[in-house]
This record gives sequence, C-alpha cells and structure tokens, in this order.
Amino acid sequence: MKYNKQELWEKYRILLADNAGACFGVRRALRLTMESLEKYKRVYTIGPLIHNPQVVEKLESKGALVAETVYDVTDNYPIVLRSHGVSPEMLALIQSKGSPVIDATCPNVRRAQDIVSKLQKDDYQVIIVGEKAHPEVIGLLAHASGHAIVAVSSDELADIKPKTERVGIVVQTTQVIDNLYKVTKELISKCKEIRIFNTICEATLQRQTAAVEMAKKSELVLIIGGRNSANTTNLFKICHEYISNTFHIETADEIPVDLIKADTIVGVTAGASTVDWIIEKVIDKLIDIKFKNSK
Ligand code: F3S
Repeated sequence: MKYNKQELWEKYRILLADNAGACFGVRRALRLTMESLEKYKRVYTIGPLIHNPQVVEKLESKGALVAETVYDVTDNYPIVLRSHGVSPEMLALIQSKGSPVIDATCPNVRRAQDIVSKLQKDDYQVIIVGEKAHPEVIGLLAHASGHAIVAVSSDELADIKPKTERVGIVVQTTQVIDNLYKVTKELISKCKEIRIFNTICEATLQRQTAAVEMAKKSELVLIIGGRNSANTTNLFKICHEYISNTFHIETADEIPVDLIKADTIVGVTAGASTVDWIIEKVIDKLIDIKFKNSK
C-alpha cells in the first residue's frame, strides 16, 4: 500500500481503516495462481478465483481462465481450487481429469470443512451459519454429505426441529458474529447438546471491528469490493448501521463526488478480495476530489 494512514488523516481527513483489503487467504490464492501461470502459462479456476471482477479480469488477461464447470475444461492445464474450497465430490472429479491441481483453499476454510466432517461422522446435526448460495457454504454442506442445515438467521430455524439432540454449529468464515449469536439463541431451547465452533476467521473479525471504529468517526464511508463479495456486503451492512452515508463501490468511478467536500471526513475500508491497487485508485481519486473542492 503506497499510502500512509497517518498522513491520509492529517493531510486529507481520510480515515483508512485497519485491516482493509486482501486477507492472507486471498493473497495466498493470488500468489499460487501467479506461480502456476509462470510455470504452465495457462490455468483454470472453476468460477472466479476471488469475488472481485477487476482482479479476475486482469488474471484472465494473463492466462488464468474462468470455467463455469469442470466439464468446460477440455485440456490438461492445471485447475486452481479457490480459497472458498470445494466439495469432496468436486475434488474427486477434478482429480479424475488428470490435470494438475493447485490447492488454494484457505486454511481457515479447510479447518471449517474438517470440523463439519468430524461432526457429521460423530452423528451431530450440523448447522452452518451462512449464505446458502455462497461457494464456501456449498463446500461445507457437501462435507456433511448434504445433511447440514444452512441458516443465516433465527427466522430460518423457526420451524426446524433438529433431527437429533446433538447439534454442532459451524460458521461461514466471513460471517458477522451477530448471526452466530441469533442462531445459537434459537437452538438453545430446542437441543440438549450444542457444540459451537466459531469458524469466523481472524482476518474477518479484525476487519469488521476496525470498520466499526472507522465508521463511528466518519461523515461518509466508502466500502470497496466486488458486489458479488459476501464479506464486502457484510462490511457495508455493519457500517450502514452507524452512518447512512455509506456506499459500496467497486471502483473509483463510483465515488459519490457531489457529497464530498474538502473537509468531509471520509472513511475507507475494503473487503477481503480487494487488492491494494484498487484501494489506491479510490484514494487517488478521493484526494483529487478533495483538492478540487477546496478551491
Ligand atoms: Fe481465508 Fe478469512 Fe480470507 S477464511 S480467504 S483469511 S477472509
């Protein structure tokens, strides 16, 4: 990151939140992909490597191609497993093709998968706190052989009576902790034994906490990240509770220029799939806007 937080604040009244942007798991996935590209010149991902269209487009121009399904990969170039992880069935299918497999599954996601498998094996009713359509949750569900219940709030559990008295709760790594509280509260009256695994990753917790601190002090907040990124959307929701002038943007072109004056305190944070050069472009433009509006 070319910007210094202290200087941004003192010179421009821009509050860059701690832990904004690409997490360890995303940086690792990008590094593994780039290393594979150097070696093989072309690789595939099944679905976009990360939930950030600008980065995925750049990667495609370098040879990291996005296939919709394994069946769309018709040659033997390597397949990179995304940081969200895959189901055991998908892994077996990829391996059966004979292409090299580059495993970029985030170790935090792997841990959640292992917990789900163990709970399932030990005959616990697995509850996954997360969004049904998210690739990580689809992978987690598959690790419970499809028998887990996925819920993001207590509402979705209102009519559900767990099959057994033993329930194990696991959380999508990028969820907000409030959803874990809500689901747990709902289940306490329904189950005799509950094992809770808070699998929200440390990077997510730190980013969310820092975003709240930043939002409390800001007059306008920009959340940078893909619209298809669940953790970025969560950051937006969290900050919006503190300040209605919160905007989810993908690029610098979407900054609400008219709302920003030279002395407006603008808070900035970014989702786990937002790389430094995208954040820097937003700050470049923000400085430019403030400079123009100071005349
Ligand atoms: Fe991994 Fe957490 Fe990032 S699970 S991919 S370090 S948001």
